[in-house]
Amino acid sequence: MNVSVIYYSRSGNTAKIAQAAASACGVEAIDIAQPHVLPDTDLLFVGMGIYGGKPDQNLLDYLDNLPANRIHAAAVFSTSASGKDRMEPAINLLKHKEIEVYPVHLRMKGKFLFFNRKRPNKGDLVRVQRFAEEVLKYYSEESD
Ligand SMILES: Cc1cc2nc3c(=O)[nH]c(=O)nc-3n(C[C@H](O)[C@H](O)[C@H](O)COP(=O)(O)O)c2cc1C
Repeated sequence: MNVSVIYYSRSGNTAKIAQAAASACGVEAIDIAQPHVLPDTDLLFVGMGIYGGKPDQNLLDYLDNLPANRIHAAAVFSTSASGKDRMEPAINLLKHKEIEVYPVHLRMKGKFLFFNRKRPNKGDLVRVQRFAEEVLKYYSEESD
């Protein structure tokens, strides 16, 4: 199973989380704001910061342009000041492309102004690694 981790991060919080997820998957995290070629992917992790209550438009456009027939499933995670799930626009785009979305959406707190000053912290990085391992296990058992 080919796994990729992509993310969009304005201030680096989601980047840290994405790197921890990627490390658990044995791949490098891909910053979609940088030039890159998405490798062949069966399982795609998608990380996003939340701005004005939603993911950045660059991330949404990227998902809208994904080569859907190559990707079987996606798992989403976000960082935000509130830690609430604001990933629905991204999830809808994935589902519209008939990419199955793992039912658990990992929501983490990220520092913003004087809120959550130490987030993501070590515990957050452990949490995202466990999440990545859980998702990997789920889809590798499914493909057996
Ligand atoms: C312009 C802007 C708008 C934001 N809007 C929200 C918001 O609506 N809700 C929220 O919980 N956090 C909001 N935040 C906080 C970010 O979601 C938080 O800092 C997140 O970790 C940013 O991710 P990043 O560091 O990967 O860019 C906002 C931050 C910025 C800079």
